[in-house]
Amino acid sequence: MGKSVLTPKNAAPARAERIGFSRTVEGLLCDAVPLERIATECGTPCYVYSANQIRTQYGKLEEALRGLDHRLHYSVKANSNLAILRLIRELGAGVDIVSGGELYRALAAGFSGEDIVFSGVGKTEREMEEALRARVLLFNVESEQELHVLSAVAKRMGAHASVALRVNPEVMVDTPHHYTRTGGKGMKFGIPFDEVLAVARAGVDLPNIELIGLDMHVGSQISQLAPYEAGLQRLLHLRGEIESAGNIRLRYLDMGGGLAVAYELDDAIDVGAFGKAITDLLGSQRLRILLEPGRFLVGNAGVLLTRVLYRKRSGGKNFIITDAGMNDLLRPSHYNAYHRIEAVKQIGVGTVADVVGPVCESGDFLALDRQIDDVVRDDLLAVHSAGAYGFVMASNYNSRPRPPEVLVDGSTFQVITQRESYEDLVRAELAAERQPKGKK
Ligand code: LLP
Repeated sequence: MGKSVLTPKNAAPARAERIGFSRTVEGLLCDAVPLERIATECGTPCYVYSANQIRTQYGKLEEALRGLDHRLHYSVKANSNLAILRLIRELGAGVDIVSGGELYRALAAGFSGEDIVFSGVGKTEREMEEALRARVLLFNVESEQELHVLSAVAKRMGAHASVALRVNPEVMVDTPHHYTRTGGKGMKFGIPFDEVLAVARAGVDLPNIELIGLDMHVGSQISQLAPYEAGLQRLLHLRGEIESAGNIRLRYLDMGGGLAVAYELDDAIDVGAFGKAITDLLGSQRLRILLEPGRFLVGNAGVLLTRVLYRKRSGGKNFIITDAGMNDLLRPSHYNAYHRIEAVKQIGVGTVADVVGPVCESGDFLALDRQIDDVVRDDLLAVHSAGAYGFVMASNYNSRPRPPEVLVDGSTFQVITQRESYEDLVRAELAAERQPKGKK
């Protein structure tokens, strides 16, 4: 085709080719679907995800790690919807789970035991039994006592548990909130660094346990390379000590998750530099490398769509009251997290306001003191970066039904979770059952 003056080199992609969230004259789109249309058909509040954005992120990370013998094990906790799990399975990933419920979801989404690593600081015997029955690839064990209990459970089942020890590498990690740091000295996660060798020695002799790897997870929303590099160096050192002391070979090294995405002000991790740094460290090591990304794959693939209910002023401040609250998206309230918010249709005029929800708590906000589009009642807002730790952390507080989830794929979309009903709210409550006949 000849060049045309009508299609300048940097023209915006045609609607059908758009990936993730972008703006046209129709307002904000998710892939090729106007968010306005989803709000009309599915109501608000509503989570909307872009399948293509998830595929793109997966591709970037795979590309960065191509020099390593590796597998991505998606961290189910970030967004555990079955449709999302299936999408990620089709891309070729395994999963990282932390509960029997996540195991149930993973199996329901079509993963098999060898696709699954089981992490978590407090596994129950029941969960261990379920995971042993599913023949999971790895138990990431976090204490000596857990190792003994796992051995006993496996023995009584006549099963065999493949184990990686989760090491607390005791490295400095900087994340936007201290709740999401896990690899520092004195935290509840992992085995303290200087005790790992002794635990490994004990593990080698335990029945029905095979020690085949080491694991770490130093935190979440990490944009620097240093914590990974320092942690891996410490794990490689331990690996040498354990292999010579126990006369065993450790085949797996699980680096956990934590790769940061851009919420706006804070930096996303440079995934190319990350890949290069860990390939330099691990490329020659004869180890299978596992990575447990959650947020990196889904964080920026989702928005929470919400409608403006009211505007008001109080104490000299502007308030925008939305139909989504802290029960729908907890992160701003719980971690003081920043989520970019913009109007779905072009507004063109700004204001400074608190964006707050309907929940009866002063901590119920989506943004404080924010420069934002000057929206009015019935306008739609998109709260960005809500694909990870959004819906999964939603609750029914104030007896608010949880919102639906919608998955967009190119120019089509489907509801992947229905909006809860009032009946759903009381379904598990025994008093909701009908009184027996004759009794008043
Ligand atoms: N592996 C383990 C063992 C984890 O504990 C986590 C997250 C991940 C992997 C995945 O981390 P990611 O790649 O998503 O950063 N609710 C918080 C985040 C808590 C993360 C907990 N563990 C938030 O909304 O920021």
